[in-house]
Amino acid sequence: MRQLIFPLLFVLAACNSNEENRIYSESESEQIGRRVFNENCTSCHGYDGELCANGSPDLTKTEFSLEEVKEQVLNGKNTMPSFRDLLSAEEVDSVASYVISFSNY
Ligand code: HEC
Repeated sequence: MRQLIFPLLFVLAACNSNEENRIYSESESEQIGRRVFNENCTSCHGYDGELCANGSPDLTKTEFSLEEVKEQVLNGKNTMPSFRDLLSAEEVDSVASYVISFSNY
């Protein structure tokens, strides 16, 4: 029995250290941005920003500044809803930086 438990613990420890930030070395803000985007924006913009559903533009080609992206997220425009009451200031900052990162690739 003892021989079995030791390798089992080792496998569990290896799984725990295999977190997302280790693989991508993302900062906390980048992780928040990715999560907020994936939860709120992909129905129209897709996971890579290029879906262009419901009349939305390709986010990888946006010429918006960070401030303009934040404004758009807060206020919405046409079919894009306002996220003012849904997201915290930190989430808006993070998702705006995440969107800007699409056009930097
Ligand atoms: C219901 C669909 C929908 C959702 C959900 C949505 N958008 Fe949009 N988005 C649009 C549409 C439509 C436009 C174009 C608005 C216009 O200018 O008429 C747009 C435009 C934008 C633009 C401006 C790009 C440019 O160059 O003009 C940004 C930035 C943006 N969205 C970011 C986001 C982010 C971030 C989220 C999630 C927090 C989000 N959108 C969620 C539909 C959506």
